[in-house]
Amino acid sequence: MKTILVTGGAGYIGSHVCVQLLEAGYSVVIADNLCNAQRDVVDRIARITGTQPVFYQTDLLDLDGLRAIFRAHAIDGVLHFAGLKAVGESTEQPLRYYSNNLTGTLHLLTAMQEAGCTTLVFSSSATVYGADNPVPFDERMPTSATNPYGYTKVVQERILTDIAAAQPDMSVLLLRYFNPVGAHPSGWIGEDPNGIPNNLMPYVAKVATGELPCINVFGNDYDTVDGTGVRDYIHVCDLARGHMLALEYAFGRTGTDIINLGTGRGSSVLELIYAFSKACGHPLPYVIAPRRPGDIASCWADTTKAKEVLGFTAQLTLADMCRDSWHFICRQRERE
Ligand code: NAD
Ligand code: UFG
Repeated sequence: MKTILVTGGAGYIGSHVCVQLLEAGYSVVIADNLCNAQRDVVDRIARITGTQPVFYQTDLLDLDGLRAIFRAHAIDGVLHFAGLKAVGESTEQPLRYYSNNLTGTLHLLTAMQEAGCTTLVFSSSATVYGADNPVPFDERMPTSATNPYGYTKVVQERILTDIAAAQPDMSVLLLRYFNPVGAHPSGWIGEDPNGIPNNLMPYVAKVATGELPCINVFGNDYDTVDGTGVRDYIHVCDLARGHMLALEYAFGRTGTDIINLGTGRGSSVLELIYAFSKACGHPLPYVIAPRRPGDIASCWADTTKAKEVLGFTAQLTLADMCRDSWHFICRQRERE
């Protein structure tokens, strides 16, 4: 049974991957500083799976803390989710973003190298396709970014590629996620950001519960099906399944590879709002607002490589994503 270190494993995507790892029989060690997660997520992972993962409240900026984890466990591979991810905040606090995301990754690589751990799967993002590539985005396109968060992903991809090139026994997989949404069908884990959400799905969910009055649709004059922004929403459980396939693929090879994880289908803002109103059973108020600076019209994945290399195809629909988000948010409000 392999032991996997999951950095950021108490977070939104990491927690769903931990569930699938435990269900598949892996041993799971989580390292998370809880800067954007709650401690009880670890217990909820245990509640879903019947197995308690090992948990360290460790900051990746603390290299000795990381070294101690590698000394205490024979880690076979690492899934690296830990990082700060809010685009707007990264523009206001670039030093914090570069420091956390880049230094955290450098420390992780140092601790891995010292321990002889050679397999790493990294959470990258479709944001690295920048603003100039045509859709659908495929892995060979040039990368760039429009904000500090995006640059941390571009630079981390570079760092990981260079290190794998210099260390022939290393296996690095860069997974570029499109727009992860939805929640575990149990309703125990999902995404429920504090305050006013930046991203569409959690914002829509808070309008559905009545916590926020109205959705602002950022622009209806894009060159898209209905003028609103189009994105490739992927259910977080599909995304987690992609990680299971990616991890096995990474164990069987060396070098660096890059794979998109999306559905290959785009949905507009209005399509998502209608799908969510079906899921929650009532109409959702929205107004057309100005475009959000930095947004692109359309973003969806070319999924050919994920299919060919991993045998991965997303199964769950936008209706499934809205249903599971709504179920989670309702369960979460009952628990509060
Ligand atoms: P999240 O914020 O829910 O999870 C990240 C976790 O990392 C949090 O639990 C946080 O506490 C932890 N963390 C942050 N900095 C840390 C540090 N220095 N040391 C230890 N723990 C630390 O975010 P998520 O949505 O689960 O995203 C996971 C990864 O996927 C991130 O790297 C993110 O950039 C990437 N990603 C996310 C999306 C998305 O839309 N959610 C899209 C593309 C890529
Ligand atoms: N939108 C609204 N109203 C809102 C929020 C968003 O109309 O209140 C629109 C946006 O303009 C966009 C679409 O909904 O057209 C999706 O916006 P999100 O903020 O949910 O997602 P983005 O595609 O802008 O960005 C997300 C993450 C990035 C990541 C990217 C690709 O925030 O970090 O997906 O993975 F890089």
